[in-house]
Amino acid sequence: MENTQPKSGNARDNWLARVWKRPVISAKTNLRTASDTLKIANVVGARPNLVKIAPLLREMQKHRQILPLLIHTGQHYDEKLSEIFFRQMGIPEPDVNLEVGSGSHAWQTGEILKRIEPILVEQSPDLVLVVGDVNSTVSASLAAVKLGMQVAHVEAGLRSLDRAMPEEINRLVTDSLAEYLFATEAAAVENLVREGRPRERIYLVGNVMIDALQHFLPLAQQSRIGEELGLLEGGRFRAFALLTLHRPSNVDSLETLRKIIHAIEEVADHLPVVFPVHPRTQQRLDALGNRHHPQFRLVPPIGYLDFLCLLSQARLVLTDSGGIQEETTALGVPCLTLRENTERPVTCTEGTNQIVGQDPARIIAAAREVLRGQPKPGRVPRLWDGHAAPRIIEIILRELLPRPVVRS
Ligand code: UD1
Repeated sequence: MENTQPKSGNARDNWLARVWKRPVISAKTNLRTASDTLKIANVVGARPNLVKIAPLLREMQKHRQILPLLIHTGQHYDEKLSEIFFRQMGIPEPDVNLEVGSGSHAWQTGEILKRIEPILVEQSPDLVLVVGDVNSTVSASLAAVKLGMQVAHVEAGLRSLDRAMPEEINRLVTDSLAEYLFATEAAAVENLVREGRPRERIYLVGNVMIDALQHFLPLAQQSRIGEELGLLEGGRFRAFALLTLHRPSNVDSLETLRKIIHAIEEVADHLPVVFPVHPRTQQRLDALGNRHHPQFRLVPPIGYLDFLCLLSQARLVLTDSGGIQEETTALGVPCLTLRENTERPVTCTEGTNQIVGQDPARIIAAAREVLRGQPKPGRVPRLWDGHAAPRIIEIILRELLPRPVVRS
């Protein structure tokens, strides 16, 4: 990679100058004189992080005591996986973009560690806030903790108990490092307690992804994606299914991918299947090279608003994503999860989600049930009410703002 960070001297200063996207108050020229200000370094890297950070930043901006800094690691860099989310969700341009790009897990994690360290040293934030379970989450947490900084993890405690899943390792490590653990569901709290994390630092606050969903749904309903994909009949959506696939366990093996696609083709015999294709999956589909079912609507990755519109209108969603299991539960839309486990059990125990794995017979049988008009009923979990971000920020302010010294 060309943009490797130089170790010292002018070259390093030039590198630092380049990664800064807009002027920020640095610790060196610190204009912060009031001790009642909290500088929070928020770290994002991949698409789902952006959805989660949007409501948190919006909430931070309401509090004059908070000075938010936004660091993008550059793990995702395509317009459709990154920029469009900034634009549509009103996320401010990042203060820094580390431009790390793609690579193996060790390379990407190591590169983020190296590149974020000088930024954190320079900025000296009071708190580093990370979200989700991607490589950027674990790297930023490790760099911060090694510098003696406190870390808050939003979406803590989720466990699939499947260590072959890269995200599971990221979750375990991040939660062992973070000081403040914000959980979306009761099972996550139990996992953290079982792992010996202090109870007083675990907060059940709800789900910031659902904050984003509730905030943007009215805007998403105005999307023209239905028209563009020919899904409208008489101005209304006709029945269609929505598919997403990107987990390495589903797409990296061509045999597994072929099996899953064959099962979905049976679903496509009954209704169109819209399939926004992640770049990782596109590479594998190209390798498979077969022709697609005529009812498959393959499209490049789509922005948040269009996707939310499709999610809310779909008769059935088939996915291996984590966040989509939660969004369908919040929307009351039937979801079949093409994995053998979920780290988000409340979506199954209370929500509309069913785990169907990779077995074609199971996928087809579950899809038929839904299409026959017998979907699994569901309800929205407690605290998934659109107010998770305010709860988190209130706790952060309470716990981290220095209290006035009372002299006797
Ligand atoms: C990452 C996260 C995953 C999350 C997903 C959401 C990790 C370990 N995985 O998976 O948890 O669910 O994001 O999308 O952090 N690529 C592009 N353009 C980009 C980024 C990636 O074409 O902007 C391609 C590259 O070929 C890259 C591949 O996609 O090698 C995979 O990208 P990567 O960020 O490593 O993992 P994701 O599969 O996106």
